[in-house]
Amino acid sequence: MKKYDFDKVVDRKNTLSLKYDFAVQRGRPADILPLWVADMDFQAPDEVVKVLTSRSTHGIFGYSEPDDTYFNTIKAWYERRFSYSPKKEWFITAPGIVYSLAMVVRALTQENDGVLIQTPVYYPFYSVIKDNNRRVVRNPLKFNGESYEMDFDNFEEKLVKNNVKLFILCSPHNPVGRVWTKDELNQVGNICKKHNVYIACDEIHADFVYKGNNHHVFSTVNEDFRKFTVILTSPSKTFNLAGLQLSNLFIENDDIRSKINMEIRKTGYSQCNIMGIISAQAAYQYGEGWLEQLLDYLQNNINKFTSFINEKLPMLKVIKPQGTYLLWVDFKGLGISENQRQDLIVNKARLWLDKGTMFGAEGEGFERFNIACPWSTLEKALIQLQAAINNYNKKV
Ligand SMILES: Cc1ncc(COP(=O)(O)O)c(C=O)c1O
Repeated sequence: MKKYDFDKVVDRKNTLSLKYDFAVQRGRPADILPLWVADMDFQAPDEVVKVLTSRSTHGIFGYSEPDDTYFNTIKAWYERRFSYSPKKEWFITAPGIVYSLAMVVRALTQENDGVLIQTPVYYPFYSVIKDNNRRVVRNPLKFNGESYEMDFDNFEEKLVKNNVKLFILCSPHNPVGRVWTKDELNQVGNICKKHNVYIACDEIHADFVYKGNNHHVFSTVNEDFRKFTVILTSPSKTFNLAGLQLSNLFIENDDIRSKINMEIRKTGYSQCNIMGIISAQAAYQYGEGWLEQLLDYLQNNINKFTSFINEKLPMLKVIKPQGTYLLWVDFKGLGISENQRQDLIVNKARLWLDKGTMFGAEGEGFERFNIACPWSTLEKALIQLQAAINNYNKKV
């Protein structure tokens, strides 16, 4: 197996990269170092690049559909890694997870129904609910100063009081980095079952789980859950293919699946992107070794990042992640206001992070760092942050 060099810095400027090329349009300084949106600064596995190169030189890009090999390859990945065996007829292929979540919201709820989310959480969860005229019902995660837990009592109370029809679960959780245990998943699943609430389980980060933790595909937790659950997956985070726009939904219940298919049809969408299909297939077929090396690299980045903060910026606190390549960092120890902190991060440290409140009010005082980049990039960011904080402290 080839040894991949994740230290290699690839210039992403002038590639229409959302992360690198749109700072000024989005009101940030041109020289800002981006650690915000969740894509990685690493090239996809060689086999993916190869299949895309060979397809592009073929030169014809007509309508395309996934075939049995595609479904079998994904099924094999889920069998090997998660002991889950999705059947071909359970699949829906769609452009992306956020699009698919919007379809699930439209298919399984009515206007003004409540949709529950566990905050702080990935911000498009709010938009797919609000933009479709449904109500956001928040079940804040409990923070014990070290890590986050689900609040089951509040969860049940919110379901009952707010006419909740759907729960969007983020598993593993972005931004707090939790990989939910079987027991936690069982508890929320049972509460939803009791109150007839559907579950849309966004498992886009499933492949980023660090040693000592296990991701459970929600349907494997309890046979009963298969009847009211939609599993949303994608190769886009795992293999850095977000721009190729492809997600795979596994839906065992025929009625739920046909409702979602109908919503998708109403948007006029039918065949998926050929580059998305072939890259997903190549990635799931040949990318496992690459992923294992990547996970080690990311764990090292997390360790080095955490040591840097503990030694040089002890007023900040890194919430230890069990999964994802996103680090949730508590800045409250700086003792400055939200505006002062944004000025410090953006204008002084020249860093583009996702500020905690984007994920909900519970994120106040936090920042989210994307650590999926060469260590040299991350170290540069940390040095810039350290200099900005030291300077700031001198002035005060
Ligand atoms: C939890 C979660 N869901 C979905 C997405 C985006 O999915 P897509 O690009 O397929 O819409 C992200 C990206 O960061 C995410 O963190």
